[in-house]
Amino acid sequence: MTTDLRGNPLTCTADAARRLDVAIGKFHIYQADPVGELDALLAEQPDCVMAHALRASVFATTTDKAFEAEVQRSLALAKALAPRGNARERAYVAAVRRWADGDLAAATETWGGIAIAHPTDLLAVQFAQLGDFFMGQSQMLRDRVARVLPSWHRDMPGYGYLRGMHAFGLEECGDYAQAEAAGREAIALDPRDGWAAHAVAHVMEMQGRPAEGAAFMRATAPGWSPDSMFAYHNWWHLALFCIDQGDIPGALCLFDERVSAGGFGQALEAIDGSALLWRLWVLGHDVGDRWSLLQQPWGARMSHGVYAFNDVHAMMAFVASGDRAAQQATIETLERAASGRGTNAMMSRDVGLPLARGLAAFGQGDYGAAVRHILPTRGIANRFGGSHAQRDVLSWTLCEAAIRAGDAPMAEAMVAERLAAKEGSPVAQGWAMRAKTLTRPLAA
Ligand SMILES: [Fe+2]
Repeated sequence: MTTDLRGNPLTCTADAARRLDVAIGKFHIYQADPVGELDALLAEQPDCVMAHALRASVFATTTDKAFEAEVQRSLALAKALAPRGNARERAYVAAVRRWADGDLAAATETWGGIAIAHPTDLLAVQFAQLGDFFMGQSQMLRDRVARVLPSWHRDMPGYGYLRGMHAFGLEECGDYAQAEAAGREAIALDPRDGWAAHAVAHVMEMQGRPAEGAAFMRATAPGWSPDSMFAYHNWWHLALFCIDQGDIPGALCLFDERVSAGGFGQALEAIDGSALLWRLWVLGHDVGDRWSLLQQPWGARMSHGVYAFNDVHAMMAFVASGDRAAQQATIETLERAASGRGTNAMMSRDVGLPLARGLAAFGQGDYGAAVRHILPTRGIANRFGGSHAQRDVLSWTLCEAAIRAGDAPMAEAMVAERLAAKEGSPVAQGWAMRAKTLTRPLAA
């Protein structure tokens, strides 16, 4: 029987199995280019069902409508070949079929089920973690990894990547000490592991350690940055550390040279572009004409409503650039998605729509309405996915909106949260000083 390098069964040739190992190894650390490896393999061995399933899954988990044709093409070939595959391969095909049908929860459970049946199947653990990430399921980010750990030991290939995945799950669950230790161990095993470095960055972001975080990211970047398909996001984290040290030019420089380096060719990059500029724009910093770099990419994707998290980040670009027609179109997109089917219907209804309306109100100067839309949504915003650090943009916007609304009690409440999390942040201290100048209403 053919297997992958960790002994998981395959029905392809031994040569195809080794080439799959190469493609999967690159995907584990988001290094270019797993799809190129798969395409080269499939050009010679077009009946490799696992290669088709993997190709479809890689594109599907970008959550980017621009890649839907590639997903459907590979999925159709995988489905046609599935009857000749083994149970594990058929499960991979079923998982990506469910994802493509819009049932992210069922797809994620299917990948999770593969990992239960095959605990050394690191690829299944990774796809399940991606699914949990896109659904904001913090506990599962940690526990899907924890449940396979007893089947692993340090000398197995990919052990460090598993530790990096565990690190991120631990961080999202607030276990910062264990998360940092796991992330640092993973980086020591392979300095190219940008996901592990990312987990450590998250720890430092959540603990309000921007100087350490910036130093860590700069020190480790020579490992994780070259040939990476994920580096833009780690640079985004570095930009957040810059902002939290008052280094606005440094953050803008990172936007110009790193975050925008890919031309926002995929939604995941455009999310970071929007999230960075929005934080600066909300604070009143001049970001020049940088929003124009995001308007077109978001505009090309906005009418599809495949993932509410994307639509809300598109909304940031349209609000900040004053494009009222695009704002209205995005709200209509979310309304259609909310009445549709699949996981994104819930995301759009519960989180996407109220947030989009709140951002639009902020742009129109109706800061009280912005607070009314965003405040009750923030507590359930994990339902539309992302990390705590990404969703922190909501608390950021609430602080500014409450202050601009002149709502002293609300501003004091939002600022108190902020200071509790990041006492030394110049951004938080700036909000605190402004909140103090507001006048509380007289008691009735
Ligand atoms: Fe992140």
